[in-house]
Amino acid sequence: MRGVAREAGSVRLLSGQKALVTGANSGIGRATAIRLGRAGADVVVNYVADRTAAEEVVKEIQGFGVRAYAHEADVSQEDQVVRMVSRMVDELGTIDVLVANAGLQRDAPIASMSLQEWHTVLEVNLTGQFLCAREAVKEFRRRGVVPDVSRAAGKIICMSSVHQVIPWAGHVNYASSKGGVQMMMATLAQELAPERIRVNAVAPGAIRTPINRGAWETDEAEAGLLKLIPYGRIGEPEDIADAVLVMASDLLDYVVGTTLYVDGGMTLFPGFATGG
Ligand code: BGC
Repeated sequence: MRGVAREAGSVRLLSGQKALVTGANSGIGRATAIRLGRAGADVVVNYVADRTAAEEVVKEIQGFGVRAYAHEADVSQEDQVVRMVSRMVDELGTIDVLVANAGLQRDAPIASMSLQEWHTVLEVNLTGQFLCAREAVKEFRRRGVVPDVSRAAGKIICMSSVHQVIPWAGHVNYASSKGGVQMMMATLAQELAPERIRVNAVAPGAIRTPINRGAWETDEAEAGLLKLIPYGRIGEPEDIADAVLVMASDLLDYVVGTTLYVDGGMTLFPGFATGG
């Protein structure tokens, strides 16, 4: 395989590639940044708060013999995203993989959801992905395909959610943002495929991370959550990291504009297993 070296017992799928992972100081982003580094990529670890955690991720990645650094930026701020990507090009030479992961929740029933809560979620989860994708595309285009590195000119993986299709009462801002991510991803995939830029999404179900601690930290909450997961376990950040790695690699070079659900079957309408 082109551009591929070995990693302990398996293939280093992203050898020589440069990846930017947003929101990489915790949860899914952290596991993904580490996984891409272990697969041979140099990694920019973006964070908006908690520099210490981001630096720990960087150290772990550097342990794989690749380059990594932490970069503070709020993905919803245009100037900060522009600076982040241009620094990456200066320091690492280019960008091959963007994992647009940074996201948050500000939950409230509709009548008590403030406009600020609506805006914050849309701006980080959707506008943030748009801004990062736009800046990455400019560099993918400038550089074009380098066959020894990858068959594609660039790969964008949008972190979506099962809530791009599952409505979620009390979370209208979040579900709307992820519905938007789905259409943004598909539209960009259509627009950019002729340039060999692959845009896809990974849609996690319930993954054990700080964003949904309340849904799994007590036995009672966990039992309720498991009713929604046919596969019978809560996901771990590494489940998503592995999916992102394969999506970013040339193994899936012909996969364009697709959402890979990594959800233990949450999108299979589990209520209908015994009803309907
Ligand atoms: C949300 C989590 C939730 C999961 C499944 C995710 O996108 O961020 O809070 O547990 O979807 O409902």
